[in-house]
Amino acid sequence: MRLWFNPASPFARKVRIVARETGLEGRIEEVSILVSPVKPHGELARANPLVKIPALSTPDEGTLYDSAVICEYLDSLHRGMPLFPRSGSERWRELRLHALCDGILDAAVLMRYEAAVRPEALQWPDWVAGQLGKVRGGLDALELECPAWGECFAIGEITAACVLGYLDFRFPGEAWRDSHPALAKWFVTASQRPSVKATVPA
Ligand code: BEZ
Repeated sequence: MRLWFNPASPFARKVRIVARETGLEGRIEEVSILVSPVKPHGELARANPLVKIPALSTPDEGTLYDSAVICEYLDSLHRGMPLFPRSGSERWRELRLHALCDGILDAAVLMRYEAAVRPEALQWPDWVAGQLGKVRGGLDALELECPAWGECFAIGEITAACVLGYLDFRFPGEAWRDSHPALAKWFVTASQRPSVKATVPA
């Protein structure tokens, strides 16, 4: 299998952590590429018409995207503890946490694009403030929830680790630890997992 990714992308990081947590990383060739929302990328466009990473070419299902679909596909290929619980309230708890963390990442990546890609004259401070409100509201929710996560490191918690890693990487001034001590403590432990260590954004 071939995974198109960028080491800075938190969505690609989620897939790379899942590949390692499921023991599948040896079956995946990781191809690091640079993508921009405003520049074409021929090879990626042939694999994913949305020209977005991550995208995974598979032997049996063509090229899969987005990160949620790729993660669920990888989870179907191993026999260990499922990262997407198959049924019951455990499943809905993980899917909702996954959606919450993906939403925080959407807002954070949009803020990053606004600052790094959009011409300064077109930037819109109120819109950025709206995205930051989503990031902060999401973190507040994670702070309340994380004491219940225990040792679990399924798709929701994996995505939470990607959120916190991305904020440290792109928004170090946000100092989220000061107002989210339980989350900060959880992240110390999560950061020691080999899958998380191996995928720190660069
Ligand atoms: C970033 O550089 O922050 C980034 C790169 C790819 C996807 C998302 C974010």
